Amino acid sequence: MPSPLDGLPVALGVSGSIAAYKAVDLASKLTQAGALVDVVMTSSAQKFVTPLSFQSITHRPVTSDPFDPQTEMGIDHVAVAERAGIVVVAPATANTIAKMAHGLADDALSVMLLATAAPVIVCPAMDGNMYANSATQYNLGTLKDRGITIAGPAVGRMASGLVGAGRLIEVREIIGHMSVVLGRSGDLAGRKIVVSAGGTQEPIDPVRFISNRSSGKMGYAIAEAARDRGAAVTIVAAPGALADPVGVQVVHVETAMEMQNAVVAASEDVDALIMAAAVADWRPRDSADQKLKTGKAVSSELQLEKTSDIVAGVSREGLVKVGFAAETEDLESNAQGKLAKKGLDLIVANDVSAEGSGFGSNTNEVVLIDADGGRETPGLLPKYEVGHRILDKVRGYLK
Ligand code: CTP
Repeated sequence: MPSPLDGLPVALGVSGSIAAYKAVDLASKLTQAGALVDVVMTSSAQKFVTPLSFQSITHRPVTSDPFDPQTEMGIDHVAVAERAGIVVVAPATANTIAKMAHGLADDALSVMLLATAAPVIVCPAMDGNMYANSATQYNLGTLKDRGITIAGPAVGRMASGLVGAGRLIEVREIIGHMSVVLGRSGDLAGRKIVVSAGGTQEPIDPVRFISNRSSGKMGYAIAEAARDRGAAVTIVAAPGALADPVGVQVVHVETAMEMQNAVVAASEDVDALIMAAAVADWRPRDSADQKLKTGKAVSSELQLEKTSDIVAGVSREGLVKVGFAAETEDLESNAQGKLAKKGLDLIVANDVSAEGSGFGSNTNEVVLIDADGGRETPGLLPKYEVGHRILDKVRGYLK
């Protein structure tokens, strides 16, 4: 399944904040994802970045003067507004937000915003006092009541030197908000899915632990794919370097036992549980309260005890269960065995020693084996795409 942005006409409104330079990166990322980005700028935005910057990246004309007979807006003043599948205003200044709230249409951006029927996301960026001002807060409340998504602002250091709420959110987050809005009508809308991700850490002492090479990328990719199809998603995440995706609830855990408690709690009323986490099979029987010192006479033998099997222990009528089999040999027979033993609907067999597959990689080559004997080999794909293939199967099992 292609990215929801592929081939989508996006209207990107840019108003006059120093954060306007970040909109160039946003336009670039959207264009790389296949979106057709029409940039509409205010005259103040052009004091910070030029239309040429956007035009060079989007390869499309940029609108800044509604009366310019050379531009599309000069010929048809609502063309961009009507074509857009989604509208993003980033950065949105206090002035642009005020104009939107009151329905003004006195420049290219406000005309486009008043004329569009597409969903709109507003990403505020301004000085902290301007943001906190009751006029701005009232206007943002008005926009929210109209169904407009207000994304941000982030808290941090602003151009004024003030530290507080007023920074434009990150480009990654803006695209996350767009995915949430676009996914609302997806084929998993109204469904709830729990995904576990990453490798658990089992403490030996306060500074050492036993873990594995899982990066969490596969679980996060499944979660993002499910979000993009409209599902309400919870990730139960073992420690890792990945940022929490927008629009997904993330429960952070460390050990197999914490993961078990979180998975059991989160799975209570969900449609599917997808266990992509590499759960430790063994944990140190005793974890020392203080750091073990090499100088002291400590035993060189580590006593281990078995962890409980999380996915095998969760079962409920109607709950779809998906497991992973990370293997380095006898891939399919090992996977078949786990499918039966753990009562799964589907197992994703994964040769973690193969080139381009498994831990840390952005791609994966898996075999999907289901409880009815079905077998699919989607080939080497980005993990996000593998996520969609798994969800295609899950969707088929859902009651
Ligand atoms: N799993 C689990 N709880 C555990 C261990 C594994 O829920 N304590 C889940 C994993 O998340 C995965 C599936 O079971 O979805 C298979 O995990 P894997 O580590 O491949 O298999 P194990 O059952 O641990 O068997 P082995 O380590 O012997 O290969």
